[in-house]
Amino acid sequence: MTEYQTIDSDQTVYRDGTIKLHTQEGFEGMRRAGRLAATILDHVADWVQPGVTTGEIDDRIREMMLDAGAVPATLGYRGYTHSSCISINHVICHGIPGDKALKDGDILNVDVTPLLDGWHGDTSRMFFAGEPPLKAKRLVDVTYECMMLGIEAAKPGARLGDIGAAIERHAKQFRYGVVREFCGHGLGRLFHDAPEVVHAGKAGTGPELKPGMFFTIEPMINLGKPWAKVLGDGWTAVTRDKSLSAQFEHSIAITEDGNEIFTKSPTGRDKPPYS
Ligand code: MF3
Ligand code: CO
Ligand code: CO
Repeated sequence: MTEYQTIDSDQTVYRDGTIKLHTQEGFEGMRRAGRLAATILDHVADWVQPGVTTGEIDDRIREMMLDAGAVPATLGYRGYTHSSCISINHVICHGIPGDKALKDGDILNVDVTPLLDGWHGDTSRMFFAGEPPLKAKRLVDVTYECMMLGIEAAKPGARLGDIGAAIERHAKQFRYGVVREFCGHGLGRLFHDAPEVVHAGKAGTGPELKPGMFFTIEPMINLGKPWAKVLGDGWTAVTRDKSLSAQFEHSIAITEDGNEIFTKSPTGRDKPPYS
């Protein structure tokens, strides 16, 4: 039995397994947090180029968040000490920024989550350093399509499993691997809340989607097998077969007539090439 809980004020919310249903106040808070997150990624598109280090990009992200009156939700989260995750080539997710310089042909995911006035805007996009090979660009295009097909399946009356089914169906056509170890998640006043949004599975299964639900859709798609492993640093998740991996993430709400994307780029820079 899935339990839902209506959140209608400043009330404290807990990770108690309930699916939160938000009202107007939540939508307004998430629009602001989501817009800030998307605007930061718009700027990242200007910063990414061969020779730049991921640590430099992370520093700029943190400055932008603080200047906007937000804090990086990842800073201090379960011992994580950075303001973004930057995942290059065969890194699936949770890449730790550092002094590694980007190389011509790298593909990378930058994932940011500003916490603004109590609301989390969680989004990621792929970026190109210089000119990646065609097979890498194709993986990135299909991964973006997977996310958008998942979002199209997210509407009132549908089931959570419809989202993963739509994503998996598309990825399978290209023989790409869909990562199962990491999922989308409910969010709002909490960073990671119920439900878990798996990016594969069976249509018609799982909890019913209801207006006011907030969650992310963030498929990770591998050029090879779906298998992941986490490196000794406890964070960096990589493909076991060293194949390239891509990911996009939006924070969305279920509305009365479909969904609302909180983290769309205000300048149309939702996927590369950004030029
Ligand atoms: N932003 C990531 C997500 O999409 C979570 C990163 S948690 C961190 O859920 F600690 F690794 F930063
Ligand atoms: Co997320
Ligand atoms: Co994220």
